[in-house]
Amino acid sequence: MDQTPKFRCKIWLVLCAFFICWYFMIHNAKWYTLSSPATTFPHQSNPIDIVDSNEKRTSETTNSGGDEVPDGEIDWLHDADQMRALEDDLEPVLKKIKPKPLKKTTTKKNDTDTEKVKPKHDTRNETRARTRNVTKRSCSGRYIYIHDLPERFNDDILDDCRSFSKWQNMCPYIGNNGLGPNLGNSQRVLSRSGWYATNQFMLEVIFHNRMKRYECVTNDSSIASAVYVPYYAGLDVWRYLFDNNTSARDALSIDLAEWLHEQPEWKKFAGKNHFLVVGRITWDFRREIDEDDAWGNKLMVLPEIKNMSILTIEKSPWHGNDFGIPYPTYFHPRTDNDIIDWQMRLRRHRRRALFSFAGAPRPQMEESIRDKVIEQCAASTKCRAIHCSHQNHKCYQPVDVMKLFQSSVFCLQPPGDSYTRRSTFDSILAGCIPVFFTPGSAYVQYLWHLPKQFDKYSVLINEDDVRHKNVSIERVLSRIPTRKVSEMRNEVIGLIPRVVYAHPKAKLEKFKDAFDVSINGVLDRIENVTKNTSSFDFDERFSWKYFLFGSVEKHNWDHYFQYSMNNKVKQEEAKANESR
Ligand SMILES: *[C@@H]1O[C@H](CO)[C@@H](O)[C@H](O)[C@H]1NC(C)=O
Ligand SMILES: *[C@@H]1O[C@H](CO)[C@@H](O)[C@H](O)[C@H]1NC(C)=O
Ligand SMILES: *[C@@H]1O[C@H](CO)[C@@H](O)[C@H](O)[C@H]1NC(C)=O
Ligand SMILES: *[C@@H]1O[C@H](CO)[C@@H](O)[C@H](O)[C@H]1NC(C)=O
Ligand SMILES: *[C@@H]1O[C@H](CO)[C@@H](O)[C@H](O)[C@H]1NC(C)=O
Ligand SMILES: *[C@@H]1O[C@H](CO)[C@@H](O)[C@H](O)[C@H]1NC(C)=O
Ligand SMILES: *[C@@H]1O[C@H](CO)[C@@H](O)[C@H](O)[C@H]1NC(C)=O
Ligand SMILES: *[C@@H]1O[C@H](CO)[C@@H](O)[C@H](O)[C@H]1NC(C)=O
Ligand SMILES: *[C@@H]1O[C@H](CO)[C@@H](O)[C@H](O)[C@H]1NC(C)=O
Ligand SMILES: *[C@@H]1O[C@H](CO)[C@@H](O)[C@H](O)[C@H]1NC(C)=O
Repeated sequence: MDQTPKFRCKIWLVLCAFFICWYFMIHNAKWYTLSSPATTFPHQSNPIDIVDSNEKRTSETTNSGGDEVPDGEIDWLHDADQMRALEDDLEPVLKKIKPKPLKKTTTKKNDTDTEKVKPKHDTRNETRARTRNVTKRSCSGRYIYIHDLPERFNDDILDDCRSFSKWQNMCPYIGNNGLGPNLGNSQRVLSRSGWYATNQFMLEVIFHNRMKRYECVTNDSSIASAVYVPYYAGLDVWRYLFDNNTSARDALSIDLAEWLHEQPEWKKFAGKNHFLVVGRITWDFRREIDEDDAWGNKLMVLPEIKNMSILTIEKSPWHGNDFGIPYPTYFHPRTDNDIIDWQMRLRRHRRRALFSFAGAPRPQMEESIRDKVIEQCAASTKCRAIHCSHQNHKCYQPVDVMKLFQSSVFCLQPPGDSYTRRSTFDSILAGCIPVFFTPGSAYVQYLWHLPKQFDKYSVLINEDDVRHKNVSIERVLSRIPTRKVSEMRNEVIGLIPRVVYAHPKAKLEKFKDAFDVSINGVLDRIENVTKNTSSFDFDERFSWKYFLFGSVEKHNWDHYFQYSMNNKVKQEEAKANESR
């Protein structure tokens, strides 16, 4: 009987100790987020271009006054103490953006942390890979050789990050392996960790850093099934997109083609086993005429590059060698549990709005349905919107976008200047069912990542019906039975791991992320083109059909893909460029 008080005393002690521990943890965590700029997003009022690739272009084109430059640029790059505090999380790219002299004098060649700095030494040769086979899948048929490109094709471009955009300093976004500044979770909208203010054009850096840690990298090209070319094509061209000078835009691409052609690896398959990952839409690389005011560069029309496979955030429906892979979003989980936690959270979330839209109208594009969509949303009590315009930078806040999408059942994804939007992946990430207006926005794009049975995870409303027949989006969506809606949402939430790029240091066991899926896809593709050339004997203009349905016969989606659209897109882009 008299043992109870003693017992209670012990419990108090334990509770006390627990409280102290807890206090310490909280305190430390706070100190950490406050002191290290890479783990917070310090300028909540700054615009971050995220909502879609085309929004960015519009904001760039409309901001030409130059007075919109966000003040108080993130100047933590020069703070040595803070850099040191971050040592643990320091990534190679981050080092690259230190001031130049510093980089050259640091003992780059004999850095003790060779694994981080020199990708070459990270490569595992066959023997090592084979011993790992005890626990892992065999690497046979999955070896990838990473071309050791001269620095002008990647690292030097990162050093030049200040010239990516004329209106915003993009350097912070190449930090953290291309994931950008850590977002933290101050507003409790996100989950505990893994959230970054990732810029939509950083895929090249993110992919390269994942690739360095891919389990089947080999330095022996003769056993490799594929050759990865780590050229940052999108970041390169970004520097010159708005200059009226084609030769500046093309220079490095032509240089690359020549360089590749001369390598011993090229000869065996004339480049058919090579692949490139570009972080901008395909139309930024398909300029066919040499006029200074035409859009983009001509990377993808060079004969060498035409023989390669190209992974891009938006592929051309009329070309056979580019493949769509997801835009990077804000979530970069490190473990399976990070993903599971987030999925569970989404399943519990209350969704008060039937549908929502984040984006800007396209007044200069006659064909655009954006204004119709915005009009309908404004007229409906069940719709919420974040309006993007050059006056309102708020629409580019990751947390605001996620908050909106998490509280909506459907998220509208009308095309902008081009078919696709980053917003599609933000919406999947928020468990919000995407609503498309053309199959070009996703169904013909992300064949490796999204289910072919598109009505399981999304809704398609014909854009012509919205444009000409005044079809009510609200009516279409509210007629979908509740059970069907919750099945679709489950499917969307289940897709999350496949469309996010895990942290480069991640250890996912159960899930395959967007990178893993892309690698499987490109290995499969390269096996097809190197072993069976006859299977690619079809008119390239119908490649969207061929890849999706396995045939080029007449299809009721044909009207969405009139070939002339190809040139139209380019014209629009040229126009956007002009109206600057
Ligand atoms: C590594 O750098 C140190 C100076 O930091 C130098 O003394 C040493 O010789 C270098 N080692 C090699 C192998 O280059
Ligand atoms: C693999 O690396 C080991 C040392 O880590 C070396 O002894 C071996 O010769 C290498 N094998 C090949 C095939 O390069
Ligand atoms: C590697 O794994 C494959 C099956 O995945 C197995 O057949 C083979 O024996 C393994 N090799 C070694 C050396 O463990
Ligand atoms: C691969 O790397 C190992 C050790 O890092 C080296 O001994 C070997 O010569 C390399 N093989 C090729 C083909 O470069
Ligand atoms: C671009 O340069 C060409 C000549 O190279 C000139 O004809 C054209 O007007 C220029 N366009 C713009 C928008 O400056
Ligand atoms: C265009 O760019 C090239 C290469 O950067 C440069 O040599 C040339 O002077 C530029 N031309 C004009 C008209 O600015
Ligand atoms: C591209 O591949 C074809 C064979 O399909 C070959 O004839 C051609 O020379 C290759 N182009 C280059 C630039 O290597
Ligand atoms: C479109 O339909 C809505 C009602 O659904 C109506 O209020 C609006 O006037 C119509 N617009 C046109 C242009 O017919
Ligand atoms: C490769 O070929 C197989 C069989 O023809 C086909 O099922 C698969 O979809 C092809 N993969 C790619 C990426 O083209
Ligand atoms: C090559 O592709 C054709 C057409 O898709 C197919 O019928 C044939 O089986 C393929 N051959 C091999 C060896 O995969």
